Amino acid sequence: MKKRKDLATLGDVTQAELQAWFDLAIKLKAETKAGKPHHLLAGKNLAMIFQKSSTRTRVSFEIAMRQLGGSGLYLSGSELQLGRGETIADTAKVLSRYVDGIMARVYAHSDILALAEHASVPVINGLSDFSHPCQAVADYLTILEHKKHLKGLALAYVGDGNNVAHSLLYGGAKLGVSVSIVCPKGYEPDERVVKEATADGKKTGSRIVVSNDVSAVKGADVIYTDVWASMGQEKEHEERVRIFKPYQVNAQLMAMTGKPDTLFMHCLPAHRGEEVTDEVVDSRQSVVFDEAENRLHAQKAILVSLMA
Ligand code: CP
Ligand code: NVA
Repeated sequence: MKKRKDLATLGDVTQAELQAWFDLAIKLKAETKAGKPHHLLAGKNLAMIFQKSSTRTRVSFEIAMRQLGGSGLYLSGSELQLGRGETIADTAKVLSRYVDGIMARVYAHSDILALAEHASVPVINGLSDFSHPCQAVADYLTILEHKKHLKGLALAYVGDGNNVAHSLLYGGAKLGVSVSIVCPKGYEPDERVVKEATADGKKTGSRIVVSNDVSAVKGADVIYTDVWASMGQEKEHEERVRIFKPYQVNAQLMAMTGKPDTLFMHCLPAHRGEEVTDEVVDSRQSVVFDEAENRLHAQKAILVSLMA
């Protein structure tokens, strides 16, 4: 397998790479639980640029680096000279002289691509407006753990066709998981992502569907949702709450899958009472905290494969 330099989206990641990350993540998770140290990145440092808020991504990357024997350095976008106009290219070149890897959470996906182009060290996307690849790797790892396999499963993502939806589409198509995006008209995922996932899915048996009809959740092994207004869309919040209301994941929608063991997933943070009810997030079918935990284990695998 060719060593990858950056992780910008799951669009160019292979099924073999995903499988290797799952295998390593499962091994490192077991070692972590057993208290066995694994200093695979001893002495290495990761710069972590955040242009947006974060709880899971910030803490899981920082703890991942510490548990791997290295360290993570939190850099707020507004406090960097980047916030005063220094270019992405110059920032990438300077950071590359100090650190062994860069993780960045940004608005414009083109900023991730520019960092990757100009940094001599690996660049990992910790969320852009276009994609959230580390999230989807942790999500499919979580599904694998609960269902014991991936190929042939069906995931229905109910809500906004956003960054998280894009990464679930790319990942599902590579892994043989059918993905249906169920969303209001006008909030469909990017057409290019749907086209690429459909083509990949043809090779793995994954069926990609985009529908405005909630009855498309029938038969789903996983129901997934995310906030209706992502970071940067705060002004649209009120309007979106009105438009997305029929797409709320509640007990009635969960029952529409026709399967009693459908998992409920959410990348978190959740807006309880909007995209999902308390009853569903706190139900026996919900695996949202396993998902959050798996960010740590999945990212350790990604960090090791890129930085060791
Ligand atoms: N799911 C996720 O990325 O969470 P944070 O925004 O808290 O990092
Ligand atoms: N779609 C959300 C995900 C947060 C983890 C956002 O971009 O804000």
